[in-house]
Amino acid sequence: MKILMINGSPHAQGNTARALEEMKQIFEREGIEIEYVHVGGRDIRGCTGCSACFKTKKCVIDDIVNELASVFEECDGMVVGSPVYYAAPNGALLAFLNRLFYSTKFDKRMKVGAGIVVARRGGCTASFDVLNKYFTISGMPVASSQYWNIAHGALPSQVEEDAEGLQTMRTLANNMVFLMKSIALGKEKYGLPETEKPARTNFVR
Ligand SMILES: Cc1cc2nc3c(=O)[nH]c(=O)nc-3n(C[C@H](O)[C@H](O)[C@H](O)COP(=O)(O)O)c2cc1C
Repeated sequence: MKILMINGSPHAQGNTARALEEMKQIFEREGIEIEYVHVGGRDIRGCTGCSACFKTKKCVIDDIVNELASVFEECDGMVVGSPVYYAAPNGALLAFLNRLFYSTKFDKRMKVGAGIVVARRGGCTASFDVLNKYFTISGMPVASSQYWNIAHGALPSQVEEDAEGLQTMRTLANNMVFLMKSIALGKEKYGLPETEKPARTNFVR
């Protein structure tokens, strides 16, 4: 089993990293292979909407998005962590996620997704909601915890003082491992669910 973990904060050692670390320790204990990537500190352009990816199945902007596409394809689960910026995830992370999810055309169904957010004070559930949207449009079941996946802190490592936040991360990681293992068994026994040819209705008269 493999997990792709994305740190969407510009800070490599900030609060998002600390919250992700709490999950990483559980994944390590459970023998899950981890690919941890710090994305939030990079210059990442937003999607240009050129739609070239429909033909090439990769992004025209050849950067970390294309580099991680194969890891995303291989993985059984994905964790995306972000600091809250103006009640939303970090912009560089959003640019990354928009292009990664749009340009990769492989089947993402039943890869388990989990978004986590870290803030000084507010805007957490709005940001959490944004992250979950990438998973839920892709047929990816979302792992949940004992609370919404939120931890609080402002200065680097302040999140250490949020015992409930860190516990939420550990519970989330344990639930995620259970879900990934259960899905692997389910896929073996039942295969993936039936799909229909996608209907695309851009507007309704
Ligand atoms: C541009 C910017 C906007 C922010 N907006 C919010 C916000 O809307 N709500 C909040 O509680 N904290 C906000 N913060 C604080 C960060 O979310 C908080 O410091 C977080 O712990 C940073 O995580 P990091 O250490 O992983 O970078 C903001 C910080 C920055 C730099």
